[in-house]
Amino acid sequence: MTISPLKIGPLEIWPPVLSAPMAGYTGGVYREILREHGCPYCYTEMVSAKGLLHGGDDSEEILLHADDDRPLAVQIFGYEPESMAEAAAMLSRPERGFQAIDINMGCPARKITSQGSGGALLKDVSLAGDIVRAVRDSSRVPVTVKMRLGWEDSSGAVRFAQRIAASGAHMIVVHGRTVSQGYSGKADWKAIEGIASEVPVPVVGNGDILSAREALERLERGPCAGVMVGRAILGNPVFFEDLTALLRGEQPEEYTPQTKMRLAKEHFERSIERYGERRGLLEMRKQLVHYFRGMRGAARLRETVLREKSPEAVVRFLEEGWRAYQ
Ligand SMILES: Cc1cc2nc3c(=O)[nH]c(=O)nc-3n(C[C@H](O)[C@H](O)[C@H](O)COP(=O)(O)O)c2cc1C
Repeated sequence: MTISPLKIGPLEIWPPVLSAPMAGYTGGVYREILREHGCPYCYTEMVSAKGLLHGGDDSEEILLHADDDRPLAVQIFGYEPESMAEAAAMLSRPERGFQAIDINMGCPARKITSQGSGGALLKDVSLAGDIVRAVRDSSRVPVTVKMRLGWEDSSGAVRFAQRIAASGAHMIVVHGRTVSQGYSGKADWKAIEGIASEVPVPVVGNGDILSAREALERLERGPCAGVMVGRAILGNPVFFEDLTALLRGEQPEEYTPQTKMRLAKEHFERSIERYGERRGLLEMRKQLVHYFRGMRGAARLRETVLREKSPEAVVRFLEEGWRAYQ
């Protein structure tokens, strides 16, 4: 089967492989790096629609992005059609520079679901539909939804996705787990594919894709119009180079530990430059450990880098120190 670009309203995304929104990870710095390696579509981390309208939280900072960080979807969460619509009107102004508005209908975190947002919307198909309709009516850019299969079970997933599509969503991403599953078990691709074949808008499948090869296999199999990859791109921006190579009929490169550490150092230095020493160091601790995945002595590499107290020490470790564990 040939793979076609993913259509999101007037946007055409090629290859149809999206990087997932991941709060705390896919901020401006990492998105910039992902783009340089060929990522065709990104999301901001999620922001609260109400927080954005009332100010006082970190929403505006999350929304900062470079001019060439596009196409970029801004992801919002909330539970009231009115405030979601107001936030969408504001975020879809051309000067904001977002090419789509995405509504979070999957987040399992208690502090989000307890207010009726994120995954909690899966329990109320009628409210979810009203939110999509309100956002669609007020947005100047395409509107998308990222959902899970359901709250407790997936029996209502097709009906939910159909309602979302009928309410005006241009594209739906489905993570193949229920909210109560969290990240346990396996993503249910049969259920995702069932939705993709029953819904009249493009459906993007998400969950447990580990490699570029696997992403392409899923696409070739259909019926999903695209796939989204989350954890497999952490500490692994070259995922998208692998994808480009495979699409050209070439073998992806085998990344040596030296290459991985060079990529980690580059990511680290850019974060320090952008966020300053204290915050950069704090944020990069959790990101760096992903670069060690698959390396010899990964656990000890992780422990050692987490102990380093200064940016200079981390850089030395990424340049030379890691070799002691090989
Ligand atoms: C650390 C982390 C943060 C996440 N933050 C968000 C988020 O802000 N919005 C969202 O829709 N999904 C979020 N997700 C879910 C991912 O977008 C994705 O659906 C999930 O990781 C499954 O895909 P994967 O198996 O390829 O990782 C997050 C996941 C992780 C691991």
